[in-house]
Amino acid sequence: MEVIRFELNGSPVEVKLEGFRRLIDVLREDLGLTGTKEGCGQGECGACTVLVDGRPVNSCLYPAAEVDGRRVTTIEGLERQPGRLSVLQRAFVEQGGIQCGFCTPGMILSAQGLLERNPHPDDGQIRRALSGNLCRCTGYLQIVAAVRRAAELLSPDGDGPRPHREGSGHG
Ligand code: FES
Ligand code: FES
Repeated sequence: MEVIRFELNGSPVEVKLEGFRRLIDVLREDLGLTGTKEGCGQGECGACTVLVDGRPVNSCLYPAAEVDGRRVTTIEGLERQPGRLSVLQRAFVEQGGIQCGFCTPGMILSAQGLLERNPHPDDGQIRRALSGNLCRCTGYLQIVAAVRRAAELLSPDGDGPRPHREGSGHG
């Protein structure tokens, strides 16, 4: 039995591990955060992407023991308050970057990691950052547009984050 302690979406957590556990299983099964999705389970689709110390990782391949002492962010950690989406999440909704939604949590976490490293990415940089995330629905154009729009809104020189208008727009 091994005990690991880490920061999960801003709060300290402690988990007991019996033997080898994948990070995705600890997040979904032990901690109840089912926003992280499993697609291929082999590091190829990106559906399971979460951030560890701000860097995107495939949680289906990542040993849970390795997050000891680190900072983990899942899709549940991006909401500003329960039910209030982040600027990036809203941009995905408004630009039509979500269809079935299965790829969306991983796609948004990869985009979040990019914007933390590079707040002003061009389209090529956005595409490269999302190249490990597969989407079978959207054709990617709307996803790239969503990340571009979020970067504009979050830029101090841009429109700035707009207050959320409850009950407006989609979802
Ligand atoms: S489920 Fe992890 S990369 Fe596909
Ligand atoms: S929205 Fe369906 S896989 Fe991307």
